Amino acid sequence: MLIIGYFLGSIPSGVWIGKLMYGKDVRNYGSGNMGTTNTFRVLGKKAGTIVLLMDMFKGTLAALLPFLFHSTADPLLIGLAAIIGHVFPIFAGFKGGKAVATSVGVLLVYNPLFFVIAWVIFLVTLYISSMVSVASMLGFLLITIVSFFFKDALLSVVAIALTIFVFVRHYGNIERIKNGTENMVPFGLGYKH
Ligand code: G3P
Repeated sequence: MLIIGYFLGSIPSGVWIGKLMYGKDVRNYGSGNMGTTNTFRVLGKKAGTIVLLMDMFKGTLAALLPFLFHSTADPLLIGLAAIIGHVFPIFAGFKGGKAVATSVGVLLVYNPLFFVIAWVIFLVTLYISSMVSVASMLGFLLITIVSFFFKDALLSVVAIALTIFVFVRHYGNIERIKNGTENMVPFGLGYKH
């Protein structure tokens, strides 16, 4: 299941949708990332929505594997394999996304309430900052804090590890935020018309 999860996570949705539907490799444009945000940025709402759903669904499907195989394996750990696949995809030269959408997809199975909380935190921080990178990083940080109230040690350990990882992965974004050059989305209080 770990291997299937990893292969599922490795599906580079942004790259495949971009190439198949638009004849464009999103990695050559915008932030150079293959994730949902850059797909929205480079290819528009339709492609971005498809990639968001696919990237989330990879994590959801991986986390569902223990149920499909009638196994007692922990959905969070199998989902983690998909997150690792998303970040280091075998189908895209091991250079993948920043772990955000696939992690959220895993939460849908592991703890639906947590999935809703994660989305609310993300949307509120996105509305305040107008930067997906800020919403992603702050979202993971706040979710980790919220996880302490759930008294679920595995969830907290995974949340802490993912938060550190997401911050490291957003190194380029942090540099741009410091320089005042980070990309903004046309949504929320931070966006200047
Ligand atoms: O999930 C990735 C997002 O936080 C930032 O994406 O393309 O702006 O680097 P991007």
